[in-house]
Amino acid sequence: MHKDLDKVLISEEEIRAKVKELAAKITEDFKGEQLTVVCILKGSTVFFADLVREIQLDTVFDFMIVKSYGGGTESSGNVRFVKDLDESITGKNVLIVEDIIDSGLTLTFLKNNLITRGAKALKICTLLDKPERRKAGATITVDYCGFTIPNEFVVGYGLDYNESYRNLPYVGILKPEIYTNV
Ligand code: IMP
Ligand code: MG
Repeated sequence: MHKDLDKVLISEEEIRAKVKELAAKITEDFKGEQLTVVCILKGSTVFFADLVREIQLDTVFDFMIVKSYGGGTESSGNVRFVKDLDESITGKNVLIVEDIIDSGLTLTFLKNNLITRGAKALKICTLLDKPERRKAGATITVDYCGFTIPNEFVVGYGLDYNESYRNLPYVGILKPEIYTNV
């Protein structure tokens, strides 16, 4: 385990099994159809790469950057749209792949934005969900959820603290002193 962590919350093995389970559901739900899988950079990259390789469908990849956080661990509530999709999603089945849903404000913004473009279906897949942290104003429902987790700041498997720890192959809880001393 990395020295900056208090504990490993979700192991590599648990993640691998969950990714297969989610991909099987997605494959079943969109059987015979094409699916545009949208990776929300950068936190979803690792989850996205594992998930798409388990989805047995004709897929198109696209990428977006939406910023909701400054450098710390609290949502500012300000969502900034940094990079848009490359392809049109009008008439397409779209799956948004997120790393974590916290306040829910980022995804509410994203979903509302994408809905106006006339997607045929618009579903949300998240590896992690912190339902306790949901803010009023977040109107999204999660279609595919990996793990519901307690209100702790987690890193690894794509998730960062100040851009570090994304490459850890598991999800862990950061020691509080790592982010309270900065
Ligand atoms: P929301 O708008 O508050 O739902 O923010 C979602 C985004 O905040 C995620 O895509 C992450 O980038 C970031 N985030 C929220 N909670 C955590 C956490 O525990 N660890 C790392 N990043 C987090
Ligand atoms: Mg982040």
